[in-house]
Amino acid sequence: MSTLEQVCRKLATRLPANNVAAQSASLATLWPAEFFRLPATVFWQQATTAQRDQLLYLCASTLLREALGIERTAMDYCAHRVLATQDALEKQVYSLTGADEARHYHWLCSIADPPTIAAEPDSFTRFLQRLVAEGSPHTQSYLLQIILEGWGIHHYQRLARHANDAAVSAVMNGIAQDEALHYAAGVAHFDATRLDEAERGFVRAALAELCAMLACGPLSVLGVVETVAGGFDDATRMQTLVALAEPAQTEEKLQQLARYIRHSGMEAEADWLAKQGLLSPMPAEVGLRYYG
Ligand SMILES: [Fe+2]
Ligand SMILES: [Fe+2]
Repeated sequence: MSTLEQVCRKLATRLPANNVAAQSASLATLWPAEFFRLPATVFWQQATTAQRDQLLYLCASTLLREALGIERTAMDYCAHRVLATQDALEKQVYSLTGADEARHYHWLCSIADPPTIAAEPDSFTRFLQRLVAEGSPHTQSYLLQIILEGWGIHHYQRLARHANDAAVSAVMNGIAQDEALHYAAGVAHFDATRLDEAERGFVRAALAELCAMLACGPLSVLGVVETVAGGFDDATRMQTLVALAEPAQTEEKLQQLARYIRHSGMEAEADWLAKQGLLSPMPAEVGLRYYG
């Protein structure tokens, strides 16, 4: 494990990556339909070429909107932590991390189109904004850095692995590399023994919300399909979610998340989530309660 001094030295002395993507002709070409499991739905199978293009555009735009929201909130978070500490080492770590987040946002803006950049924050971004506004520094080091930066490494690697465009893939890999260092800063700062009861309660509520967002399945993709289809009845909505969902992959993502949750001193939190059934994929009828 690195100390905060060691993380600070790495952040301050490495050369920033220079992998800015060229503006893409269309977001619809960034990730393949299979990445979103669209071909498994009846709507895709019967869709016109124009509808398929619209589905791919909206799925990519939704992904990028979420990533832009994450990076923008990460800039706010770092500024917040710089102001919250009198410690010069912490100020350096969060200022350097904030510069990384600004660079990530800039890279993503080079890929996204203006409507995607201008879109209102999505529900995941609003969740992060609440953690930044309401969390204490210790709950934030755990929730935002150990869990979400840790999780972000895999998320961006996945976006890189499946991207059609080499420049987009390079951007996503560049972000993933930086997030690993931000995760290391969280690990160096966090000490579970310093959390009081109120902070443990805040952490549990946030973790329950986070796990439910993942366990409910690909509701944002369902939203895109329903929008392009012009609305679904209840049976078609359920059938489409079942087609889009891949419970084995959701299970794997939840287990990945659980490994970060089960940080030293926080094992009880992971056990509590497992007991609530929040570390397992929800059946479609339960997942749909979180829709819309
Ligand atoms: Fe970032
Ligand atoms: Fe980060």
